[in-house]
Amino acid sequence: MNKIHLLSSTDRPDSNALKVTNYVNGYLSEKTDTKVFSLEDYPFEDIVGGRYGDEIESVKKFNDRFLDTDGILFIVPEYNGGFPGVLKFFIDYLPFPDAMYKMPVSFIGEAAGTFGALRPVEHLQQILAYRKALIYTERMFISRVNDTFDTEDGLESDFLQGLLEDQLDGFIEFVGQIKS
Ligand SMILES: Cc1cc2nc3c(=O)[nH]c(=O)nc-3n(C[C@H](O)[C@H](O)[C@H](O)COP(=O)(O)O)c2cc1C
Repeated sequence: MNKIHLLSSTDRPDSNALKVTNYVNGYLSEKTDTKVFSLEDYPFEDIVGGRYGDEIESVKKFNDRFLDTDGILFIVPEYNGGFPGVLKFFIDYLPFPDAMYKMPVSFIGEAAGTFGALRPVEHLQQILAYRKALIYTERMFISRVNDTFDTEDGLESDFLQGLLEDQLDGFIEFVGQIKS
């Protein structure tokens, strides 16, 4: 069975990103191997002071566990029209150049606003394309997340719930195709 790692891409306590991540993990884990990661658990205190290129034990441990996978699903909130700054720190401390090389990746955006983190996801796609990841082209955008998403039932709209499930099923298939 292929492994998919999910990243809740903020360190904000009690975040919607982690709620969406856990919900999505419930769906995916019935069909494939999964593991949830959250930037709440990332050792940000150890990278203060521009320690790029240093071997930092806590960072290596997080990255090694995270990268031991066949595919990655990023769950991304919108902060000031972009993705959270902590996600960029996380990416900047991944091993270069090989961390994301040919890694299948997929994206779910979530935001309080109407565009459902379209801008953050598209920016993240650019960065991961630069890092030579393999981007699954179906993205999902959860608008007005506080009103439209439920931790037990998923998305209020049956249409959008269907799109979400199609994306998740399609990503499992995409990862399988790349792996084989
Ligand atoms: C620092 C910050 C900036 C935000 N900027 C935006 C924004 O530009 N557009 C938007 O729709 N929502 C914005 N929001 C609201 C979040 O997108 C919304 O609350 C989202 O669910 C937060 O994600 P989180 O709970 O995973 O942290 C912002 C929230 C925070 C904390």
